[in-house]
Amino acid sequence: MNIWEDTNQSYIRAMMEKNTAGENEALKERLTAIDWSILEHIKRRETVNERGVFAPLDAVETGEIEARGEEFRKIGLQAIRDGKVGAVLLAGGQGTRLGLEKPKGTLNIGIDRELYLFEQLIRNLTEVTDEAGVFVPFYIMTSNINHDDTVAFFEEHAYFGYPKEYVRFFVQEMVPACDFEGRVLMESSTEPVMSPNGNGGWFSSMVSAGLLSDIRARGIEWLNVFAVDNCLQRIADPMFIGATIAYGCESGAKVVRKAAPDERVGVLCTEDGRPSIAEYYEMTEEMATARKENGDLKYGFGVILNYLFSEKKLEQIADAKMPIHVVEKKIPYMDADGTFVKPEQPNGYKFETLVLDMVHMMDNCIPYEVVREREFAPIKNLHGVDSLDTARELLKGCGIQL
Ligand code: UTP
Repeated sequence: MNIWEDTNQSYIRAMMEKNTAGENEALKERLTAIDWSILEHIKRRETVNERGVFAPLDAVETGEIEARGEEFRKIGLQAIRDGKVGAVLLAGGQGTRLGLEKPKGTLNIGIDRELYLFEQLIRNLTEVTDEAGVFVPFYIMTSNINHDDTVAFFEEHAYFGYPKEYVRFFVQEMVPACDFEGRVLMESSTEPVMSPNGNGGWFSSMVSAGLLSDIRARGIEWLNVFAVDNCLQRIADPMFIGATIAYGCESGAKVVRKAAPDERVGVLCTEDGRPSIAEYYEMTEEMATARKENGDLKYGFGVILNYLFSEKKLEQIADAKMPIHVVEKKIPYMDADGTFVKPEQPNGYKFETLVLDMVHMMDNCIPYEVVREREFAPIKNLHGVDSLDTARELLKGCGIQL
């Protein structure tokens, strides 16, 4: 059955009643190209997070990192110099909480001067490449929505001094969005609302974009994946890479010590013996407050969306199906009268895979502790918690002139 024959799909059907024959032809062609099986995940949205048995996972803490720092740094720098490390910037999100019309990375975080988020990330990476004496291939994931603006921004700013031949963009896949009853929302008379499919699909999107041959040709063995919105992000950090290699692990995750038992961060632990991330809302009170003999929290380290993955392992799991999370969001749409509606409250579902689910596909993962004030300044909102305001304070605390 075609999607427009489904009597539940009242928005599509109402649009078709108003459309001209030509518009309907274009709309049908568009709708036929979409895999609608994604809508079935609505029924499974309560069970997608059904979890196994969680257990704590010891982190490599700052004390040990200080003691073995030179060893880790040496191993990591060698891997970078051998061209075995690539960096992947996840910049396909829509940044709805920030409310910026442009890509999040174009945000000016400066106060008395211009300093863009993308620029700050390039600076952080350049600190490493200056030390290593080689450039690190830099892959940037965009979405159909922000791709052109992102590329134009980098062009306009001459890649902030990073050599262009080391930068590759790729576009992530899009999926439809619907209301709470599974009715597909419309963007225009010929387009349903489509949104980026979450940050979990980054490797398969790289493969679809034909970048696997680039990765192989360059001999990349490790990919460091990270979020666009943490302006203190350390990229291709030699010590982190070195520690992951020294521990013989196929993945590593940067973590920060939880500020309080009820802090709203996902915690790196094991689930049925494999590495996993327990979201704060999945933790029982008992788990959240359990302490070790030395008084530290047993589930005491939160992830900050900075991971290192073995490229070989990523290729092995590239075809594995990732869990699809059905997320309630505010989704702008066009109603049948042609009015564009910007809802104030969540009005429907988006479908997303998450990079943190990739950790569970790894045989092992090393939680690597970093100091929050030095490496974690996420910008999710303009003001308040995890905002431009808090990030600016943290940047200043690290001696960065704004
Ligand atoms: P968030 O989950 O914070 O989402 O993304 P977001 O889109 O930036 O912001 P909100 O939730 O709409 O306010 C964490 C990281 O994952 C990337 C984002 O760009 C950010 O770096 N991401 C997210 C993608 O690359 N693609 C996606 O589909 C979603």
